[in-house]
Amino acid sequence: MLTLETKLQAHSARIAADAHATAPLLSIVVPTFGERDNVEELVRRIDLALPRTAWEIVFVDDDSPDGTAETVRSLGRHDPRVRCVHRIGRRGLSSACVEGILASSAPYVAVMDADFQHDEKILPLMLLRVAQGNVDIVVGSRHVEGGSIGNWNNRRAAMSRFAAQLSRLATRVDLQDPMSGYFMMSREAFMGAARGLSLIGFKILLDIFASAPKPLRYEEIPYRFRGRLSGESKFDSAAMWDYAMLLADKTIGHVVPPRFVAFSIVGALGTLVHMATLTLLLKALGVDFNLSQAGAAVLAMTGNFFLNNALTYRDKRLAGRRMLVGLLTFYAACGIGAAANVGIADYLFVSHHAWWIAGLSGVLIGAVWNYATTSVFTWRGPGRP
Ligand code: GDD
Ligand code: MN
Repeated sequence: MLTLETKLQAHSARIAADAHATAPLLSIVVPTFGERDNVEELVRRIDLALPRTAWEIVFVDDDSPDGTAETVRSLGRHDPRVRCVHRIGRRGLSSACVEGILASSAPYVAVMDADFQHDEKILPLMLLRVAQGNVDIVVGSRHVEGGSIGNWNNRRAAMSRFAAQLSRLATRVDLQDPMSGYFMMSREAFMGAARGLSLIGFKILLDIFASAPKPLRYEEIPYRFRGRLSGESKFDSAAMWDYAMLLADKTIGHVVPPRFVAFSIVGALGTLVHMATLTLLLKALGVDFNLSQAGAAVLAMTGNFFLNNALTYRDKRLAGRRMLVGLLTFYAACGIGAAANVGIADYLFVSHHAWWIAGLSGVLIGAVWNYATTSVFTWRGPGRP
């Protein structure tokens, strides 16, 4: 007769064998925002595309208002291959992909969209290629022989070409389709790049290529980019700004933070606004100098606050009452910054430095002061959706 202990041992061994057979070889990470009506069909299509592979699918949902996360969890209750990473109070395609990859363990990982634009039928070929080990990453490409961008309109197609060209100039990446959001890679290659990622915006593939410690060995596999089945694209002008920030981070980011560059550009615009207002008040309207200067400063600071809030700190932008508080802290910080600017310049000038060195030093120190203090007091706290 079997003792309880041997029975338990046999039971554990059976569970271990089952687990071994079903442990995923491939984790497919799918970022979602407002894709409730697509997720079930996507799982079905992947199941059909990969009949002989142990795979899992990790949806990373940024708390979509349509309840995508709950739909995914309800699928997961019947199928353990379907998992959900539900992020609350966060947005961002790149960071979603990375967190999905980091939340999985399979030796190979893929990233694809939830809207069927990325043809799942090439997944087996992609897996074969990375598993053979001659390449670190396989990219689903619209721009190699056999691929196409489907029914994108001319404007979007031209924009995509331009963006790809820009990326080739700014980074050492020479892919035909660097803007692709569809790829598969070994976990090892991903981990090599993971700590260098900028995580800004949409272009995770480009980020990975540009962050890899040594050039990734890659292959591009063609596919036809299909029309979106349901829901809408999240690509907009904000995504373009993010893209510019990503390229800035990848090119000059190790010298100056791209946020500081953006802040300085806004600051330079503010100076123009200031001078224009001053001229108008003083010369055209005959207001006295001190009043004109003060009015111009307030207007320029107000404009700068809103521009920085919309662009430089888009991921942390303030609204409602917090925006009012933010504006006041911005005035205070920039006021002190202006005083520091004048003070330093004056000190350098009277200690016999060239007038332009004195002036420039004042501006530089004022800018760094403004940037440093407003990043702590005005746009503090984590990003918001
Ligand atoms: N978690 C999360 N958070 N997911 C997001 C977010 C977000 O902030 N924004 C978009 N997504 C999800 C969408 O639900 C979709 O599954 C996927 O990311 C791509 O978003 P789309 O809005 O469909 O982008 P697209 O079709 O304009 O562009 C896609 O395809 C291009 C060509 O491959 C993206 O993958 C681009 O990066 C890619 O260049
Ligand atoms: Mn899409």
